[in-house]
Amino acid sequence: MTHVLVTGASGYLGQFVSKHLRDNLPKDVGVVGTFSRETNSKLVPEGVEAIQVNLGTGVGIDDVRNACPRLAAIVNCAAISQPKACEDDEPAARALNVPEHVVTLANELGARLLHISTDQVYDGTRANSNEDAPCAPVNAYGRSKLAAEEYITKNCNASKAVSLRSSIIYGPEPASPVGRTLFLQFVLKAVQGNEPFTFFGDEYRNPVYVKDICRIVESLVVAPEWPLSKPVYCMGGPERLSRADFARRVAAVAGSNGENIEEVSASSVNRGVKSPADISMESKLLFSELGITPTAFDDGVKASIKKP
Ligand SMILES: NC(=O)c1ccc[n+]([C@@H]2O[C@H](COP(=O)([O-])OP(=O)(O)OC[C@H]3O[C@@H](n4cnc5c(N)ncnc54)[C@H](OP(=O)(O)O)[C@@H]3O)[C@@H](O)[C@H]2O)c1
Repeated sequence: MTHVLVTGASGYLGQFVSKHLRDNLPKDVGVVGTFSRETNSKLVPEGVEAIQVNLGTGVGIDDVRNACPRLAAIVNCAAISQPKACEDDEPAARALNVPEHVVTLANELGARLLHISTDQVYDGTRANSNEDAPCAPVNAYGRSKLAAEEYITKNCNASKAVSLRSSIIYGPEPASPVGRTLFLQFVLKAVQGNEPFTFFGDEYRNPVYVKDICRIVESLVVAPEWPLSKPVYCMGGPERLSRADFARRVAAVAGSNGENIEEVSASSVNRGVKSPADISMESKLLFSELGITPTAFDDGVKASIKKP
């Protein structure tokens, strides 16, 4: 049997991606998903074979190799994804976020590698960065993710590997809670109440709908020939929004007047880690090379917040 491996399948993106592949790949392709903390095995979606591995140290990697000897692709979603946690322990962030064990596995088994990177490789001083814009991360998270892209470009077969720079990901609640507040769900709760809430008016992102990432991943897994021409792509949504814009748009979609949204500057809050101001991205290249139309922000929000 051929397999596809999703690392970090217990995390927010990994849950959606592994479930999507489980439901959309041919039935003779098995989906294997990894988790790292013992308590999180149940977060890997049903029907996805869950394997525990520490991808920072490599403990458990043999179990992964044994579970999928014929490996078509790896979707690397495992990471220390919280900038503050990376800032607090940069060596640990680099050990996991620069995916040496994953790259070795992909190369050994001849698998495609779809690595999830971030918009935080940019320094935040310009709008609408594309693949050719200069990278200069301002925090440990961004540095570890840029080092990962460089490691992959240097060590992987160019016609089998890509780093996809995701912007902030929004979507429905995952099937199993991931133990942290998700921005869309936080905003939704805020705009449905009456208490005043502050949102940054000067931090710009291109929020990307989680199900668009699933479609991108699927198309890269099933393409008979490698369809991409570059080693790194921007993967943001179609609209550049400040966090305050994000909140006002969610309020409108949710039928709230948004009167309790107060716009403040990011500089008014100390988050213990530098956050780049404008890391909005122009992502037309990826969507056009794959023939995928990105979901409009309001439509993605509407689909994310509708009750099942
Ligand atoms: N969410 C966003 O808005 C966003 C934006 C831009 C880029 N990204 C990137 O997208 C990817 C997925 O993000 P996410 O939000 O889904 O992250 P997440 O919810 O924090 O999930 C992280 C995953 O990594 C796993 N992991 C942590 N430490 C590990 C270790 N030592 N060995 C193996 N696995 C380990 C976790 O497993 P356990 O649960 O078992 O610990 C979990 O499955 C990341 O690369 C992130 O940098 C995310």
